[in-house]
Amino acid sequence: MIKTGDILTLKIEKVVYEGFGLARFDNRTVFVKDTVDGDIVRAKVVFENKSYIKAKLHGILEPSCHRVKPLCALSKPCGGCDFSHIDYDYQLKIKENIVKEIFRNIEGVEFLPILKSPLKYNYRFKTQYPVSQTKKSKRLLIGYYKEKTHEIINIKYCPIHPEIIDKITDFIKENWKLGAYDEKTHKGLLRHVNIRISNLSSEILLTLVLNINEIEFNKIKEEINNFCNLLTEEFKSIKGINVNFNDKKTNKITGEKNLKIKGCDYIIEGLSDKKYKIGFNSFFQVNPLSAELLFKCAHDFIDKKGCILDLYGGCGAIGIFLSDMADKIVLIESDINSIKFAKENYQINNIKNYEILFGFAQDKIKEFEEKTFENVIIDPPRKGSDNNTLNVVSKITNSVIYISCNPMTLKRDAMTLIENGFELKKIQIVDMFPNTHHIECVSKFVKKGN
Ligand SMILES: C[S@@+](CC[C@H](N)C(=O)[O-])C[C@H]1O[C@@H](n2cnc3c(N)ncnc32)[C@H](O)[C@@H]1O
Repeated sequence: MIKTGDILTLKIEKVVYEGFGLARFDNRTVFVKDTVDGDIVRAKVVFENKSYIKAKLHGILEPSCHRVKPLCALSKPCGGCDFSHIDYDYQLKIKENIVKEIFRNIEGVEFLPILKSPLKYNYRFKTQYPVSQTKKSKRLLIGYYKEKTHEIINIKYCPIHPEIIDKITDFIKENWKLGAYDEKTHKGLLRHVNIRISNLSSEILLTLVLNINEIEFNKIKEEINNFCNLLTEEFKSIKGINVNFNDKKTNKITGEKNLKIKGCDYIIEGLSDKKYKIGFNSFFQVNPLSAELLFKCAHDFIDKKGCILDLYGGCGAIGIFLSDMADKIVLIESDINSIKFAKENYQINNIKNYEILFGFAQDKIKEFEEKTFENVIIDPPRKGSDNNTLNVVSKITNSVIYISCNPMTLKRDAMTLIENGFELKKIQIVDMFPNTHHIECVSKFVKKGN
């Protein structure tokens, strides 16, 4: 009888969805994080039921030949780079195998060779850290939450983002004197720090999320201004500093209102010959170099120029990138901040024939039920799309290009499209998140007979 707390000796067979190493014990499947195939490990059981066991790595008896030393000593407790113990080329192999395994029962799919990220490290151009402080010394702690806790790992160095983010974070730790948020008491000021960098210009947008409303803010405005002056004197590439007001007792990171303190409330990013204004909270792929590769694939997947419906369009990134293949683009997006930037981005890029709709894809798409589109782009969040949206999509186009950051929900939605008469032709994985288990891919669906 296996029970929680038991230590098992396991040989890891392969790495599966969400980055778990898989082993077998007593005819049951065991999942162990932070391992790789070939590892012989000791692992402590943390969960078990009739069909599977979850265990925590306790020690490595024999390391796999695919193991490398992670760049960051905190990679395990932090979990932010949970593949950094695996050789990069092997990480790519694992991602390919996971996708092939998930889609194994769909016939006729071409799996294109995975595209590497141009940067293995320092690729993440946006970081959002929670903030707290130590009880006695009131020292500021800024970093990621330890997995499945709300305990902050105080991060000094993170190899995933550009080094300047560490420097700014350090500066804030040293110079912020107005206190940090305490989740338990719902007191204290600084809740989150959001830093966004443009790969195009190296410009930085910094946003401080405060546990305060606009009226209370006026009382500390001068101190905040002084602090922001210190920051911009030290870091010349900071283009704008904003505060976001979030005084609600909520897990949501940001509140509704923002206030510009210095400079701009956006930075300009560039992909290929396109330029994009992005705000601190609007969606934009965090790895711009890989995003360009991803969008180029989507471009290659378009066989016929015509009207494009850009669902989950964010601030217009993909639609604008594909604009030379479009007579007209219709964008649907549910975040009002992204809508504002989408409108500006269409103008900056001198694209004339577009329509931008604010609302949920599943509602707004109904307005187009009687229309036809040469191509529909679906680029939803992790939870994927929904049947209402996919059913309308199936009526109005013969070509779907689906960009996904979650191969499981992509598979679910692919089954709906296939039931509705589409064939899944090809899948291209682009490594957007090196040294993590995350998988981004673009796939092409064509209506049977086209
Ligand atoms: C993965 S992002 C894609 C953004 C964009 N396509 C791009 O190229 O950057 C998903 C976007 O979908 C939006 N979103 C989430 N749920 C939505 C829904 N039900 N309807 C419309 N947009 C939604 C989010 O605000 C986010 O901007």
